[in-house]
Amino acid sequence: MSDPTRGTVTGGTPGLHIGVDYYPEHWPESRWPRDAELMAGMGVDFARMGEFAWHRFEPRAGNYDFTWMDLAIETLAAHGIRTVLGTPSAAPPAWLIRKHPEILPLDSQGRRTGFGGRHHDCQSNPVYRRYIRRLVTAMARHYRDNPHVVGWQIDNELGNSHDDLCFCRSCVHTFQGWLAEKYGSVEALNEAWGTAFWSQTYNSFAEIDAPRHTVAGKNPSQELDWKRFCSDLIVDFQRLQADILRRECPRHFITHNLMSFAEKVNYYDLARDLDFVSHDQYPSGFYLSGIDPARSAAQLDVVRSFASRPFWIMEQQAGISGWGVMGRAPEPGQLALWATQAVAHGADAVCFFRWRTCTVGTEQYWHGILPHDGEPGSRYAELAAWARAIKPQLAELAGSMPRVQVAIVYDYDQYWALSIQPQNPALRYVDELIYWYRLFYTQNITVDFIPEGRALDGYSLVIAPLQYLMRPEQEQRYRNYVRGGGHLILGYRAGVKDDQNRVRAEAPLPGVLLGELLGLRIRDYDCLQDAAVSLRAAADADNHADPAGTGTIWADWIELRGARPLLCYDGYNDDGPAVTVHDYGAGRACYFGTRPDQQTLARLLGPLLAELGLNPDPAAVLEVIERATATARWRFRLNHSAAPQDGLPPYGYDITRLDP
Ligand code: GAL
Repeated sequence: MSDPTRGTVTGGTPGLHIGVDYYPEHWPESRWPRDAELMAGMGVDFARMGEFAWHRFEPRAGNYDFTWMDLAIETLAAHGIRTVLGTPSAAPPAWLIRKHPEILPLDSQGRRTGFGGRHHDCQSNPVYRRYIRRLVTAMARHYRDNPHVVGWQIDNELGNSHDDLCFCRSCVHTFQGWLAEKYGSVEALNEAWGTAFWSQTYNSFAEIDAPRHTVAGKNPSQELDWKRFCSDLIVDFQRLQADILRRECPRHFITHNLMSFAEKVNYYDLARDLDFVSHDQYPSGFYLSGIDPARSAAQLDVVRSFASRPFWIMEQQAGISGWGVMGRAPEPGQLALWATQAVAHGADAVCFFRWRTCTVGTEQYWHGILPHDGEPGSRYAELAAWARAIKPQLAELAGSMPRVQVAIVYDYDQYWALSIQPQNPALRYVDELIYWYRLFYTQNITVDFIPEGRALDGYSLVIAPLQYLMRPEQEQRYRNYVRGGGHLILGYRAGVKDDQNRVRAEAPLPGVLLGELLGLRIRDYDCLQDAAVSLRAAADADNHADPAGTGTIWADWIELRGARPLLCYDGYNDDGPAVTVHDYGAGRACYFGTRPDQQTLARLLGPLLAELGLNPDPAAVLEVIERATATARWRFRLNHSAAPQDGLPPYGYDITRLDP
């Protein structure tokens, strides 16, 4: 995908490292030069603009006005600041909605959502698409030769804002076509969806509806296909714009701002049509969640993993977050630390959201670098100092990647299937990934996330938590990986379902092939709800006084068929095995029939991590991570604590260049 003439070999255009999200349409023109001057004063290289300004670009159908943006671009360019343009499809204007109210999405209960927020759009609607095609073409033609425009962000956080996407006639019709292409015949679909249950059998594709609100329950196979369809629809929606931009602006890059673990669209798929992915990083969350550096790190790692290359941060937290209610103020140093964390995990450019805190609209309290009054204050000072210090380093290390030996399988089909039937009410797919991720994060071992199907051989350890849907090809892949010397960890609920979200029943869990690989079979199981069971190390099987910890969420009742127990239940299920290991071929396969508490997990796997040469540091107090090229290596040390640690001040960081 990378074309050197677009300058996106590394995911960064040379010389573009520090950016701000700027909304000239929110401020009088007379203010723009002052903004540009202040931006330049803090080392800003580029601004992202325009992604919600549809009405300013097209105040009336077909009447385009680019003069205001031309002026904004020029004003910034006079200070050496270049422009990334957003296509404004996330905010269809009132005149368009009034003319074509069918663009507004229908929710699963058949209610039409109103105008007044954003993303009030049906992604399949042909009229909406026609207007977008016209506007994006006009914008692309207008800006393709503007020397200050370097690239495009398509729409904004596709999939965000939509609860259910849309259940309108156009979407249902498109869904039917998608199903016909997938299954070929309605009989094949009936078989795949198990429609014999509750007399749901269809005589033709035309009878099939979207899984809207029902009196009782839904078909899980239909629901899974619907989620897959919605994801494909979003990918197609992005492609519509990407194709125009590629054709009209061959010198510009194309990106999109993702949201790490959001589940509406398969980001591995979305990334394929982009030169590089971008991401919006808000470590303190919308306002509710506490700050969790491990989760923030996982969010960055997953974004790096989508296209296996460095990325941009298109929105980096610049102050207090929140819409109607606000989160806590970041501590002095924290904004710079968070931005450094993004770079450490693979960002080649960091763009701050937003330049100045808005005085109107929904986001009046989502704070930017400048406060409401527009005068530089403490956030400006902190981020200006940060930008000055890191820019030369960013210029050098752009394109570098961490060297990674551990992969966690992160797959949308699993995510979707488990959101449809979560098994245990407390089980969340992403939380399960983070549970595993934390084991590595706390010991400074870097992790990639990989989709099913990606090659495993480069990794010495692969964790596949909640491998709930199991395709025969994936089973083979795991088997070959372990045979060839790989180390694999599978968790409870592995192999329960097939690709169509039907229970696999040809053999007891985890199925024939996985059973052979893991050296066990699962006699029965127990959803623990909110109960916990005691665990102890298998070697201390007689030492009831020394429980190793507790298991929660799930308990498999395991029958050993060649595997050895590592942890056993204590006072539960006849003290049978809870966690096992099996030597298989040249490698090893572990199985977790329950979720041990985090400390027990670390104690249990410590020796394996050391044996695999992963250099675990169980006593780590700092986050330490490296990026490398063939010729250089950079070590980042980050102190997320309010106390000085290991020579770093509270919320401090350092970056050291090392020999390769
Ligand atoms: C992001 C979004 C921005 C802005 C920000 C703060 O998710 O892309 O446009 O809304 O959140 O709410």
